[in-house]
Amino acid sequence: MGSEPKNLHVLVLTYPTQGHVNPMLQFCKSLASKGVTTTVAVTAFIFNTFKPHDGSIHWDTISDGFDDGGFAAATGIEHYLETFKAAGSRTLTELIQRHRDSGRPIDAIVYDALMPWALDVAKGFGLVAATFFTMPCSVNLIYYYVDKGLLRLPVAEGSYPVCLPSLPPLMPPDMPSFIYVPDSYPQYLYLLLNQMPNIQGADYILVNSVREFEPLETDEMSKIGPKLLTIGPTIPSFYIDKNNVNDKKYELDLFTIEPKEASSTRTWLKTKPKSSVIYVSFGSMAKLNTTQMAELAAGLIESNYYFIWVVRASEEEKLPKGFAPEKGLILRWSSQLEVLSSEAIGSFFTHSGWNSTLESLCLGVPMVAMPQWTDQPTTGKYVADVWKVGVRVKVGEDGIVRKEEIKACIEAVMEGDRAIEFKQNALKWKQLGLEALQQGGSSSNHIEEFIAGVMDKIA
Ligand code: UDX
Repeated sequence: MGSEPKNLHVLVLTYPTQGHVNPMLQFCKSLASKGVTTTVAVTAFIFNTFKPHDGSIHWDTISDGFDDGGFAAATGIEHYLETFKAAGSRTLTELIQRHRDSGRPIDAIVYDALMPWALDVAKGFGLVAATFFTMPCSVNLIYYYVDKGLLRLPVAEGSYPVCLPSLPPLMPPDMPSFIYVPDSYPQYLYLLLNQMPNIQGADYILVNSVREFEPLETDEMSKIGPKLLTIGPTIPSFYIDKNNVNDKKYELDLFTIEPKEASSTRTWLKTKPKSSVIYVSFGSMAKLNTTQMAELAAGLIESNYYFIWVVRASEEEKLPKGFAPEKGLILRWSSQLEVLSSEAIGSFFTHSGWNSTLESLCLGVPMVAMPQWTDQPTTGKYVADVWKVGVRVKVGEDGIVRKEEIKACIEAVMEGDRAIEFKQNALKWKQLGLEALQQGGSSSNHIEEFIAGVMDKIA
């Protein structure tokens, strides 16, 4: 194989949820923009349902065993993961063989860390393999410490705060939910811990983070073994740096955005003063109960700011009856990057999903963190206490965040001295995120290092 990136063929294997597809697709785009032939493999269900756009990336499919219904067709997460592992390994093997036979063989596989079985397939073919963590180093380290026995589960009440290498002291609400309550979703805990056991066999660890956002955590995670490279933020630079018109979003939204709705949202935002709107979204998976929806609705109304609230179709019936706010816009799904990069947005009321948080940090938008589950509590902790770009809600003893608390948090990020400080800090992180992506920045260098390293290994 020659020494040009164009002679490289990298296969990127995504886990089929929105929060995992988005960062890996953007990474594919970065590889392709540097001349690497990039094929992204999604499950047949996703491919057939969402018909990815054509472009600089090639598409292929593997099977999760549920080609007609995806995750919803499985009886539960355990059934899904077992079937996915078997069908995925088999169809990935066939895919690699097909590309070999067609004369355009794959040289390297980048696979979502949630699919560690892909490493065995890659090694069976002698390919370079990189495991891709979509979550931040802080969270990955916590799972790593559990896997290594440094943090034993369940964590005894008297052991808090938990002090772990290179992490801030962590109280229960700062822990990933599967760690704090290990019995809550044992199969999800297994899925996340299972990222670690065969990691030493990978050639690279790629992380969707920015080294400057979590320097200690990145250095600590680098000690695991394989070369670790942070490659985030996986956000098209178009949104951060409006000059770069070529690097727009590569769309694969698993939820529908009606073009008419997108356009009326744009118009609505244009009529609003600078920093006057709260954007509210809980990502692609989190569910609020009816009481929580009512408190959030009341908190938003009483805070009396403009707001855009993304309520997915499956959540709509939980909205208070007849809810038609004068100053609010309810959407089923948004072009989040476009919304967040609008000057009218003053803050992001978020579930602290990692992609949403990274997007908010890199677009300079202060946050109210209302974590729901999985990695979100730890990210919420970093938002409030490490990056200091906003506040985290206090949850009542009944598990509900009341409207008074919601209103107080919104005020904290929208008005007064603290809000000014949060905004200044957010702009600082935005600048660091932009620098990481620019020529000579940490993530830009890391992507080039990855490409050069793969070329070296296959020479
Ligand atoms: C999940 C987990 O919940 C998250 O914590 C983990 O880090 C990744 O997997 P999700 O809950 O969907 O993801 O949240 P998040 O990580 O924030 O990803 C959501 C993505 O969907 C973001 O890239 C966001 O821009 C996009 N989005 C969300 C939209 O484009 N429109 C919307 O209306 C809402």
